[in-house]
Order: sequence, then C-alpha cells, then structure tokens
Amino acid sequence: MSIFRLFIKVINISPDENFSLKSAEIRKNKDVTIRPMKLEEFDRVAEIYLNGFRNKYVYLVGEKYLQTAQNLYIKHLKSDKNIRNGHYVAMVNNEIKGICRIRTFKDPENIFTFDIFKSLLTLPILSLFKALFSLLTVDYIERCEKNEGYVDILAVDNTYRGKGIGQSLLSRADEECYKRGCTKISLLVVLSNFRARRLYEKHGYVPTKLYLGRRIFLFGTEVNNANEIIGFFKMEKNLEALQN
Ligand SMILES: CC(C)(COP(=O)(O)OP(=O)(O)OC[C@H]1O[C@@H](n2cnc3c(N)ncnc32)[C@H](O)[C@@H]1OP(=O)(O)O)[C@@H](O)C(=O)NCCC(=O)NCCS
Repeated sequence: MSIFRLFIKVINISPDENFSLKSAEIRKNKDVTIRPMKLEEFDRVAEIYLNGFRNKYVYLVGEKYLQTAQNLYIKHLKSDKNIRNGHYVAMVNNEIKGICRIRTFKDPENIFTFDIFKSLLTLPILSLFKALFSLLTVDYIERCEKNEGYVDILAVDNTYRGKGIGQSLLSRADEECYKRGCTKISLLVVLSNFRARRLYEKHGYVPTKLYLGRRIFLFGTEVNNANEIIGFFKMEKNLEALQN
C-alpha cells in the first residue's frame, strides 16, 4: 500500500455496464485550430494557465507571489522538453485562447528535478511546503497506467469560454492519445468544478475514482470547504471507439 493512502482516501467507482454516455454532439467550432505550442509562446501559455487556475495558486503562494508562480511555470516549460512538447494551444484569429497538456504512458514524468526544487526555494517557506506536498500527491495520482493517456491543465481564456474551445482541445487530446497507442484517456477534476465536469461528461468521460483529502495534499480550486477536505474525480474515456 502506498504511503499516500494514509493521507488520501481513494474510492473506486464501478462503471454501470448498462449506462451509455453519448459522447456525440461535439460542437465543432471551425474558427478554432489546435496545434502544439511553439517556443516563443511560453508567456501567453503561462498567463492562460495561471488565470485558469488562479484560486489554486492564490492558495499555494498568495496574491503577492502569483507572478513568481507564473515565472516558475515558464522556467519549468523551458527546462523540460518532454513537458513542453505535450502542450497544445487553441488558436482563434491567430491568438492563443486556450491550452492543455497531453501526455501518455510513454512519456516519463519527472516532477522532482533539481531545477524545480531550486526554483521552489524562492517561495515563502509555507508555500514551499504546500508545493512539495501537492507535487508529491499529484505525482502519485497522475501516474498513467499502461495504454493510458492523460489530459491536464485544460484552460480557456475567460472571455472566450462557452464557445467550444474546451471541446476542441479535448477532441485533439483523444486523437493524439489514440495515435500514440492509448486505449483510454483520463483526467482529474475538482468536485466543485461543475462546468468542467459537465464538459467532460458530454465528451464521454465517466468518473472512475474519487480522491478525498486535506487541501494541503490535494490543492485544487475549491475554496472554504468545511474542514478543508477537498475531492477530485478521476474521469476516464474509452478511446477504442475512435477505430471506426
Ligand atoms: C472548463 C473550461 C476549460 C471549459 O472550456 P470552454 O471553452 O468554456 O468549454 P466549451 O465552450 O467547449 O464548453 C463545453 C461545455 O462546457 C459546459 N459549459 C460551458 N460553459 C458553461 C456554463 N457557463 N455553465 C455550465 N456549463 C458550461 C457545457 O456542457 C458546454 O457545452 P454546451 O455549451 O454545448 O452545452 C473553462 O471553463 C476554463 O478554462 N475553466 C477554468 C480552468 C478549469 O477549471 N479547467 C478544468 C480543470 S479540470
């Protein structure tokens, strides 16, 4: 049993065999193009990322250090080719309006590099601890199983939400993961993120696991939750239907 089970409760959700989600009706927005991120786009990508997950970073480093967190993210992107290559951008009128990261079981994840650790040392001591705890748990719960793909940090510029950009990014993630030999794709979503959950369900994802834990281990976007217990759903989608 992993040591993380002492801090995080994991509940498996058995799929209902008779339940079929229509992952149809995917609205294609023809004004949106999805492509891999280019090197010169680090700043804009980090900006969308920090805006999309602002609450999480306010909790982690406080308002005062948001810019530092953004700079750390850029540094992280610059230093790790594997992470960088997994970033995709959604373009509307030649401008980046959405982002996501796609990775598969074939892409090794190395969260604890010396560089990252050195950068974390620039944060206040409490933030450093929070960051270390959450990196450890994220490393544990985001590990891909064999033939699994994973979509992460999906975020859309807040003035462009509700226009199908999130759906286009998810469709691209399906295609990329399928091409790279994955039979399923998964993601994590905070329980209270109803908008994102609705988007994923519509796209054919179903919840397969529930993670519950103290906020310091599972920092997410939930705020002021009683007892600071927060939860994430792991949601999965079968990619085998893409064969047809
Ligand atoms: C979640 C997020 C990425 C969705 O991106 P988006 O481009 O707005 O999504 P889409 O336009 O493709 O919307 C698709 C579906 O999301 C749901 N949705 C979108 N806007 C919604 C709203 N205002 N209320 C409820 N559901 C909404 C709907 O199911 C919608 O489909 P429909 O409009 O056909 O009914 C975006 O809201 C975001 O960046 N949020 C902040 C970061 C975040 O929470 N990321 C997810 C982490 S797990």
